[in-house]
This record gives sequence, C-alpha cells and structure tokens, in this order.
Amino acid sequence: MSNKNRFAFFGGKIVPIEEAKVSVMTASFNYGTGIFEGIRAFWSEKEKELFVFRLKEHMDRFLRNSRFLQIHLPYSSDELCDRTLELLRREEYKRDAYIRPVAYKSSTVIGVRLHDLEGACTIFAIPFGEYIDKPDGARLKVSSWRRVDDNAIPARFKIVGAYVNSALAKSEAHREGYDDALMLASDGSLSEGSAANFMLVREGVLITPPVTDSILEGITRRTILEMAAREGIPAVERSVDRSELCVADEAFLCGTGVNVVPVTGVDGYPLGEGKPGAITTRLGKLYRRAVRGEVGEYRRYCTPVYGSA
Ligand SMILES: Cc1ncc(COP(=O)(O)O)c(C=O)c1O
Repeated sequence: MSNKNRFAFFGGKIVPIEEAKVSVMTASFNYGTGIFEGIRAFWSEKEKELFVFRLKEHMDRFLRNSRFLQIHLPYSSDELCDRTLELLRREEYKRDAYIRPVAYKSSTVIGVRLHDLEGACTIFAIPFGEYIDKPDGARLKVSSWRRVDDNAIPARFKIVGAYVNSALAKSEAHREGYDDALMLASDGSLSEGSAANFMLVREGVLITPPVTDSILEGITRRTILEMAAREGIPAVERSVDRSELCVADEAFLCGTGVNVVPVTGVDGYPLGEGKPGAITTRLGKLYRRAVRGEVGEYRRYCTPVYGSA
C-alpha cells in the first residue's frame, strides 16, 4: 500500500504515517503490554458519506481497557473520536476502512511490569474489505488451543499479547484448510472465534456464550442481540457445549472485522443444513444495512465523517 496521503494520530497530533514510529526498546513491543481496538467505517454510496459504526462505544472500551493495563491516556473518549474523524478526513476516505487505535507502554526500559511506565496511544486506518470473505459460509475448526483464561490473560480487554492465542488458533485452522478457528474455554465450553464472537441457533432461539466464558465482550455481539430483540427473535446468553455444534440449526461469527459471517461447517462436518440459515441471513442483512446508516433505529450508531446529518 502506498503511503501517499496516509497519516496517523501519534504523539498527540496527526502526522504523516512515516513519522509514526516507536523504538525497538518500547516496553509494549517487548512484552505485549498494549490494548487495541478495531473499528470500522462504512462508505455509503447512496449518501456519499462515510459512517463510523459505534465509534463512541469503541473508544469508551479502549479507554476502559487501557486503564486495566495501567495506561492512563490524557484524552477523553470524545477527543479520541474527534481525532479519528479528523484522521479519516485527512486521508479523504471514500471507501470502507478499518481503524486501529493502540494504547501502549511507551517507556524504553527492560523489565516486565505495568507500573511506573509511560503510556501513549496511536490511531491509524487502512482500507478494508471482508476479513473472512465467505458469504456462503465459513468452515471452522475447533482449535486444539484453549482460549486464554480470565485468570491468565483476560480475553475481555483486547490485550495485544493475548492475540498470540488467537494467532496460534487461526494459523492452525488455516494450515488444516479451514477458514477460522472456534476456541473452547479452559472448562471445555465454547468460547469464540479467533477474532469474532460466536452465535448459534437452535429451534429458532439465538444462543451465544456469556461474557463470563472467556470471550471479548463484543460490540457487534451486543448489536446483534439488540437487533434480535427488536426483530422478535428470542436470544439467550448461556454456556454452549461443544456437542451443540452437532445439533445446531445455524451458526455465525460476528465482530467488527468479520461483520456477520455464516458458519456452515465445523471440523469437516456440515453445521445444520450446511448452508447459511434463515435467522443468520436475516440478521446479517440487517447488520450490513445498519452499519451504512440505512436503518432508522440504528442510525444513532453511525457517526458521519464528512458531516451529513
Ligand atoms: C477475540 C475477539 N472476539 C470478538 C471480537 C468482536 O468484537 P467487536 O464486535 O467488539 O469487534 C473481536 C474483535 O473484532 C475479537 O478480537
């Protein structure tokens, strides 16, 4: 990708991307002690407007998670939202984009810890299409790697170092010809994908693991649960057994990266009828319209970058 017209929020201001650099001695680079976010902006051809989806919720989570790692950033959530919009305007985005805020321990010292270290943050954006380009259904592998445990590295905080766990699972799945991994929590219950939450449908009921089953508390997950409630689709948050994959009617992954991707097979076996199910398709279509500002009820979640109302 060319760096022409590319910028980052770095050191408190927007700078050309080449200037957004950290030292190899940076504590986060050595120990994984950082927090990141993933946010999407969707281009609406109809309105000639770029909408950032649930920007404020992402920045609130970013600051909350950063505090967990004792990174106290000198910005409010609103300031980070403003900087993000400014960045997208500077880059003149008129296509779907992915925004990556990262908070990190910026001190250049050796010694693993959280205390007595400086913190900093950066935000950059890249053009982004589908993360898992499988509209007709992804095939997952139940990973041999267990999801990081809450008493080891809490999955809910989006900690940089914790994504080694996701990377191990994703690459194992890829190596064996699958599209993504499905991870079990340390007690064997179903947790989530390598970078997305997991939902299944049994007899018309949407089921997803609770936030206490070693998952990232996904913003898309919350959006889908809200959509299900509005659409009159019953939904429960409860632990899911691995064997329920064999009796589920439908399943899907959801997350900022993947949007909504139907899951049609696990471990080489078809899931349900082996094709995207009716509830998955309905919620997936609604979600994809909502993020582009096309659905009234969810318009409040869409922040315009260039200023349309
Ligand atoms: C491990 C993991 N689970 C779930 C999600 C989905 O979270 P969100 O909907 O907040 O993007 C992500 C990020 O996209 C993730 O990395």
